[in-house]
Amino acid sequence: MQIDTLILGAGAAGMMCAAHCAGRTLVIDHARAPGEKIRISGGGRCNFTNLYTAPENFISANPHFCKSALGRYTQWDFIALVEAHGIAWHEKTLGQLFCDHSAKDVVAMLRSEMARAGADLWLQTRLAELGHDGGAFHAVLEVEGARRTVTARNVVLATGGKSIPKMGATGLAYDIARRFGLAVTDTRAGLVPFTFPEGRFADLAGVALPVRAGAGGARFDEAMLFTHRGLSGPAMLQISSYWQEGAPISVNLDPAGTLLDSLRAQRAQSGRHKLTTELARHLPARLVAALSAQTGLALTGNLADQGDAALTRLCDTLANWQLTPGGTEGYRTAEVTLGGIDTDGVSSRTMEARALPGLYVIGEALDVTGWLGGYNFQWAWASGAAAGRAI
Ligand code: FDA
Repeated sequence: MQIDTLILGAGAAGMMCAAHCAGRTLVIDHARAPGEKIRISGGGRCNFTNLYTAPENFISANPHFCKSALGRYTQWDFIALVEAHGIAWHEKTLGQLFCDHSAKDVVAMLRSEMARAGADLWLQTRLAELGHDGGAFHAVLEVEGARRTVTARNVVLATGGKSIPKMGATGLAYDIARRFGLAVTDTRAGLVPFTFPEGRFADLAGVALPVRAGAGGARFDEAMLFTHRGLSGPAMLQISSYWQEGAPISVNLDPAGTLLDSLRAQRAQSGRHKLTTELARHLPARLVAALSAQTGLALTGNLADQGDAALTRLCDTLANWQLTPGGTEGYRTAEVTLGGIDTDGVSSRTMEARALPGLYVIGEALDVTGWLGGYNFQWAWASGAAAGRAI
């Protein structure tokens, strides 16, 4: 079978690319359904973009790489598409846009855009072989037990990263890229909960509070959640993408920076109140009860017993809690893969490989990783559209 473009992977980027490709396009995926990560994303409502998307929200060895594609297919373009399909949406927080009804609406929208562009979709299809003869790609596909040979001018690598292997994530894009001479940077799990030695936060599991979290020079003001295995919540997921193994993370339990003034004012008003009672007005009571054991702070006595120096020391400690995670939950639960196909070998305008014209790389397979909050889908849409328009 002779086609123009073979897209490997019917995820967010692959479907968006197919919707923009001219000529005869075939999209294949080994899964039973396209866009499975879209379907489960955002608690089933898909955080499909972020109002404030900017290149600063992405991590890559080359922070400039994402600029061109993001600038030519913006969050406003995707919002217009969603609205043209009658999908109602709302902003949850921090510019994060979600479907009112269901993430399945976004999958259906992309399927219909692909169909409108005339692209074919083969599911439960495996790539058995892929070669290039200097002019075209030759692929052998296994579909329903049969082998089909396809010749295509272009091949688009859109099989994503390694996160959640149970959902069908594989390293196929990396393997093909290496085979055709592209470099692949080290990969690791991103947007992933931290693990700590067993029992460290067992008493606190389920406690959540707003914090300012920092690692590797980045900081985020969001919620943190104690779990049986460690620390999670948006603040922890965000900094996990900046964390290096063995390094400490910092947690500021007083992100508003008002605790010292408040404790001083309370001391002047009602010095006979217990220090822990006052702290529990600012922090979850279960956390206050565990703070001495967790931080080594002595939290005894009444407010009146605490001099300014003691209160300052207490607030400083709470504002700069240093913790060294044992590790992360890894690809099993990570939302994304950091690192990937080296952007140095790829055109930032068209996503075409410099080493082999006709080979394109889009989405999470590339070394471009967004923050939590709709940025990763926006990258999938933008890079998919960039390649599709170029093809
Ligand atoms: P994607 O993973 O979407 O698609 C790759 C496709 O390739 C899949 O369909 C897969 O089956 C197929 N494939 C893989 N290997 C193959 C092989 N060997 N042969 C054939 N097919 C193969 N982002 C965001 O912006 N907002 C959000 O709300 C969320 N929420 C979220 C929740 C969860 C649980 C996860 C795991 C991730 C998110 N994300 C997210 C991240 C987002 O899902 C992710 O960045 C994009 O889906 C990446 O799009 P791609 O198209 O690059 O890969």
